[in-house]
Amino acid sequence: MPTDPRDADRLPFEGMEGPAKRRRSRKDAGPAEPRARAVSTDPARERVRPIPDPVTLHSHGPARVLALCNQKGGVGKTTSTINLGAALAEFGRRVLLVDFDPQGALSVGLGVYPHQLDMTIYNALMERRTTGEDVLLKTGVAGMDLLPSNIDLSAAEVQLVGEVAREQALARVLGPLLPRYDYVLIDCQPSLGLLTINALTAAHGVIVPLECEFFSLRGVALLLDTIEKVQERLNPELRVEGILATMYDARTLHAREVFSRVVDAFGDKVFQTIIARTVRFPETTVAGEPITSWAPQSPGATAYRDLAREVLARS
Ligand SMILES: Nc1ncnc2c1ncn2[C@@H]1O[C@H](COP(=O)(O)OP(=O)(O)OP(=O)(O)O)[C@@H](O)[C@H]1O
Ligand SMILES: [Mg+2]
Repeated sequence: MPTDPRDADRLPFEGMEGPAKRRRSRKDAGPAEPRARAVSTDPARERVRPIPDPVTLHSHGPARVLALCNQKGGVGKTTSTINLGAALAEFGRRVLLVDFDPQGALSVGLGVYPHQLDMTIYNALMERRTTGEDVLLKTGVAGMDLLPSNIDLSAAEVQLVGEVAREQALARVLGPLLPRYDYVLIDCQPSLGLLTINALTAAHGVIVPLECEFFSLRGVALLLDTIEKVQERLNPELRVEGILATMYDARTLHAREVFSRVVDAFGDKVFQTIIARTVRFPETTVAGEPITSWAPQSPGATAYRDLAREVLARS
């Protein structure tokens, strides 16, 4: 990284006008502040390098575990987990998705009704006799399975506090499943609580979905700090796999400026694939399937296939 990521809260927005500043009238404006560098072209297009084609696999496992994590809500964690998973499966990878959010949005997005489930990831975490295998569901995507969750998981956050090795509970559940899969993707809830620490402890890498808007970087320094602490204390292997720009609207100068700042701060850690804002994604949630099968030729499906190729190239 070209700069210390801990400066991320400050660096990417230096000189950039936030919403509060923008609202000031001309009258009460003080001396002119430095304006953000004008981004007239689409910075997303300037970074295009060829992504190698994935090799064909003849055997599977052990899995690389990636946590999709950002404590900010609604940035595209669940959408990216489903669609990256489906795209990796299209490339012949065996994929396990882990719904690690008590809201169960990942399960719903794959057509599973969480409140109707008798067994979820909660049971595998908390009951010694229940394994991940007992909870596993097949999805409509060939080669992609799911460990579902529902509101029960919210109790785990409290109950785990009193457990021995409370941060390793998810790693214990996933361990026996890793030999069968090539990728395990964990959809984290929007918090940095004990469930998310469990996800970071079980993971090899973190993908940080980041919405291209002014407030999106404010929490990134805290997230990177948490990742560093987990690296030091619980999981030395953990690394930031990549930062994924989501909900990008190339027509707005604001999104282009934010993206430009993200690249300035994080350099090659930023995936060159960018997920554009489109109504096709909310549609897929209603349909209960990934965009790669709901609208296979859509730009959104193509983007997640490109992301899958980048993830494969980085691993
Ligand atoms: N690229 C996109 N363009 C437009 N809408 C999107 C895009 N990606 C996701 N969405 C929509 O934005 C909403 C939030 O997305 P998503 O649930 O993936 O975020 P999240 O980070 O998992 O949220 P939470 O923090 O609540 O778990 C959903 O309604 C989803 O359909
Ligand atoms: Mg979510």
